[in-house]
Amino acid sequence: MNAANSEITLSAKDPYPEACGGIRGEPLAPSLSIVIPTFNEIDNIIPLVNRLHQTLAGIEWEAIFVDDDSRDQTIEMIRTVSLRDRRVRGIRRINRRGLAGACIEGILSSSAPIVAVMDADLQHDETCLPEMLRMMDSLSADLIVATRYSQTQHVDGLTRLRQAGSRFATQLAQKLLPTQTSDPMSGFFMVRRRIVEAAAPRLSLQGFKILLDILTSSSQPLAVAEIPYDFRPRLHGESKLDATIVTEYFGLIIAKLTGGLVTPRFLMFCAVGSIGLLVHLSMLRFLLLDGLAFPLAQTFAMMSAILSNYTLNNALTYRDRRRHGWRFITGLVLFSLLCSFGVFAGVGLSTLIYNQEPRWWLDGIAGAVIGAVWNYITSSAITWRAR
Ligand code: GDD
Ligand code: MN
Repeated sequence: MNAANSEITLSAKDPYPEACGGIRGEPLAPSLSIVIPTFNEIDNIIPLVNRLHQTLAGIEWEAIFVDDDSRDQTIEMIRTVSLRDRRVRGIRRINRRGLAGACIEGILSSSAPIVAVMDADLQHDETCLPEMLRMMDSLSADLIVATRYSQTQHVDGLTRLRQAGSRFATQLAQKLLPTQTSDPMSGFFMVRRRIVEAAAPRLSLQGFKILLDILTSSSQPLAVAEIPYDFRPRLHGESKLDATIVTEYFGLIIAKLTGGLVTPRFLMFCAVGSIGLLVHLSMLRFLLLDGLAFPLAQTFAMMSAILSNYTLNNALTYRDRRRHGWRFITGLVLFSLLCSFGVFAGVGLSTLIYNQEPRWWLDGIAGAVIGAVWNYITSSAITWRAR
């Protein structure tokens, strides 16, 4: 029988049975979708797909790679594989970065009712997948976490510093948040797609902590089970976990604790703003000592702060909407233009205060705060608006 040409059998569960009538497709729909985020993983694609074939023999599966426009042509490699193997496909995302966002996009585009998320770099033990799938069924679980920390797991894949940091972050999450797993930061888990579909609007797209986010964002209590595995060392390429990812992790915890009032983006904006304030005050002090008149010194100080804020916000706060190349320049022009209103208001008001009360630091801060509030509003709505 030609699989691609046989008629799909409709079931009463299909949401639009009448619309499906004419569709022809493969008779066996996948029972497991595997979502694999990639960023510069070209050398790991073929070994991983080969391992999936080996370990998933007898299971109908599909693999969805979600690539954030890697510089090393990872997506080309994925396409090459998918031309030979229909189970494999790739999503290429442009101008976006973020492990969590990539996973969510992959999960939302999957077709099986059960989805596994795993790294591309072979650090996760793919031979756990069949057992995880069995557990989903036998335990009627919503989510299975592959854990590095259940009893005596080996985590050879992490340096000592990362091991200590990872354990600290794990304990923090377990103390502060209602999670029921020994490894809430695992990047390797299996979940019913409908759980993620329901939570998707509330999930953060940035950072690595998608599992923790799913666990704490779900409106219903989840039936969670665990399976231990040994985290393997990386063979090709390098880890993308950096200081920003760690900062975002703590940001997510604070966001969860404040019921979403204080978002990671807002915290990052404040951190960048404080650096801008330091730049502003040092420049102001320096220029005043140099004998410049206050309004002029204040203007230059604000401009330096704007430049510092723009660059840092572009790299950190709005890294998912980052402006590159020509758009970086037009963004700076836009940002400066919008901020110049803030500069005029800031300079005017702080000079007014300075004439009454000549204390350079107080007036410096007043000017910067007025500028910062204006910056935040226009940045989110205009310069880095969601596209
Ligand atoms: N699409 C996309 N976009 N993929 C990304 C991005 C991104 O911005 N950043 C990383 N990835 C992919 C990598 O290519 C890899 O397949 C996987 O996500 C994990 O990234 P690594 O850089 O290898 O992470 P790690 O090994 O340091 O971190 C491991 O431990 C963390 C907890 O300590 C991973 O298992 C993480 O998932 C886990 O949260
Ligand atoms: Mn890794």
